[in-house]
Amino acid sequence: MIKFLDLQAQYASIKPEIDEAIQSVLNESSFIGGPHVATFEAAFAEFQGAEHCVGVGNGTDAIEIALEALGLPAGSEVIVQANSFIASSEAITRAGHRVVFADVDPDTYLLDLEDVAARITSKTAAIVVVHLYGRPANMAEVKALASAHNLRIIEDSAQAHGAEHQGQRVGAIGDIGTFSFYPGKNLGAYGDGGAIVTNDADLARRCRMIANHGRTDKYLHEFEGRNSRLDGLQAAILTVKLPHLDRWIDRRNDIASTYRTELADIDGLTLPNDVPEGDRHAYHLFVLRTSRRDELVEHLSNLGIPTGKHYPVALTAQPAYSQNESARSDFVANAHGAQLVSLPIGEHLTVDQAHEVAAHVRAFFTDATA
Ligand SMILES: Cc1ncc(COP(=O)(O)O)c(C=O)c1O
Repeated sequence: MIKFLDLQAQYASIKPEIDEAIQSVLNESSFIGGPHVATFEAAFAEFQGAEHCVGVGNGTDAIEIALEALGLPAGSEVIVQANSFIASSEAITRAGHRVVFADVDPDTYLLDLEDVAARITSKTAAIVVVHLYGRPANMAEVKALASAHNLRIIEDSAQAHGAEHQGQRVGAIGDIGTFSFYPGKNLGAYGDGGAIVTNDADLARRCRMIANHGRTDKYLHEFEGRNSRLDGLQAAILTVKLPHLDRWIDRRNDIASTYRTELADIDGLTLPNDVPEGDRHAYHLFVLRTSRRDELVEHLSNLGIPTGKHYPVALTAQPAYSQNESARSDFVANAHGAQLVSLPIGEHLTVDQAHEVAAHVRAFFTDATA
């Protein structure tokens, strides 16, 4: 049976380690803060090649806290791509800034940097770069654009743990990067969780304080912050999973290359572009584009093959942004909403299963009797 996500199979594959980690948190009652959080933060910083990691409550808070820590002027314009999960833009508004959408590049589904350049004004202070679907953005180009206009870079890496741009893990290539450990992510907790990474010690310190009531000490608060902390249980679980992540991402890449080979050159079907030499895709999602999306979804569903839609309504077409002047209806991202379909991908699948899925997709497009 082919599943889109199989957290039970993942748990079964590492059960003794997970059970032991949970038991030790229970034995120590180290529920908030404590050694498990510190251990995970150090391990994740090292994994991502960042100097600092601050665990927070979830990936949405991570973006909001990162933006706040950057200390941008209130009401600044922050540019973000038109297709993402709403957290990428929601956090900008929550942090007291204005969301300015830029279109996506139809080849990568990431920010179209020419469109970004066209949207920069004297009020633009930052860019939220989303490594959507686990694909690393071209950070060299993003950095060149940002430094030409004195903009800060936040990397929303919620879908891209382990992705690399030219040998460097995403997250701390820009000023600050954010991660989600929502259970279905490539690195998922058993509840909500998130993290911020940066190479800037002062930014890391401010994030930590914002996430913990502006504390400098237990009863001393330098400013008003909030409560957004990664808890001990999640940290212990994530510490167990982290050493498996590279292997899991390799499997995702094996499945992606099977899909890529078997689904090449089909009329009416657009595959995601391969990443450039030297980059590593984390393949959180494998997203196809076709004008026959709904028919394909139904066809696969009838065969017991689940699919996803990421995302069926672009941010720029959401009611939440009906008053946002930058949300243009002629965005490529808006048209994609009806065409995107995600095939199953994950370490729970075998390459044989990927062949099976691909064969059914190919038959749908090429076999009149399918
Ligand atoms: C691109 C992106 N950004 C941010 C988030 C927010 O993460 P969380 O659900 O942990 O708040 C998610 C995931 O849900 C996401 O996919």
